Amino acid sequence: MLEIKKLSYSVKENNDILKDINLKFEDEKIYVITGPNGSGKSTLVKIIMGILKQTSGEIFFDNEDLTALTIDERARKGISYAFQQPVTFKGIKVRELLDLASGEKNKLNNHCDFLSTVGLCAKDYLDRPIDDKLSGGELKRIELAMAIARNAKLNIFDEPEAGIDLWSFDNLIKIFSSLKNATNIIVSHQKKILEIADEIILLKNGEILAQGKLNDIAPMLENDKCGRLRGENE
Ligand SMILES: Nc1ncnc2c1ncn2[C@@H]1O[C@H](COP(=O)(O)OP(=O)(O)O)[C@@H](O)[C@H]1O
Ligand SMILES: [Mg+2]
Repeated sequence: MLEIKKLSYSVKENNDILKDINLKFEDEKIYVITGPNGSGKSTLVKIIMGILKQTSGEIFFDNEDLTALTIDERARKGISYAFQQPVTFKGIKVRELLDLASGEKNKLNNHCDFLSTVGLCAKDYLDRPIDDKLSGGELKRIELAMAIARNAKLNIFDEPEAGIDLWSFDNLIKIFSSLKNATNIIVSHQKKILEIADEIILLKNGEILAQGKLNDIAPMLENDKCGRLRGENE
């Protein structure tokens, strides 16, 4: 279980990016963090991964305080993070990336499983280097395949739908369902992703505005006439 206690984050220019956040993420559940642009969603997940350091407050993962741990140490504890913008590891082959993610040399069968889950054929992609010949959507899928290969206890996805333009959402949903033995925290605005959440956390101006099932949260999204909570202006 991941537990966030009284977490705040501020920088010199903005002292209220996250304000006194308290959250509990139980094992094997899907959580979706949603809210308008600039509400602090990416900041929150980056702090969980250790990319940013909180100004105050604590984060416990399986009762262990993560505060002093680096990104690598958190990864070794079983926390996996997929970026809003996919990271490129120039030159490295897809096959090698998947092996790095799973921590072992995989058989062709496993490679096929990882890639076919994200709609890519191993035959076409395993020996392709990561370079600018791959589209944003392909990179994003490879990143998702890495998350599957990693088989982490806690998966964090920041707007996984970004760049998956030509690929159906249903496949993305299938991936989250296939990661069932893990806890998944997904930052998203997409209705279909909100629908699979066990719990939705609605952030606004660095605070938790609401938390609960889609039925509880949906009226708040619908009442938001300008559509900002739904991310429609993004
Ligand atoms: N280093 C920083 N300096 C100043 N403002 C920042 C910094 N990092 C984030 N912010 C601000 O914090 C807010 C939250 O950002 P972010 O977590 O990226 O939002 P979201 O992912 O919900 O769109 C934004 O208003 C952003 O401009
Ligand atoms: Mg963001």
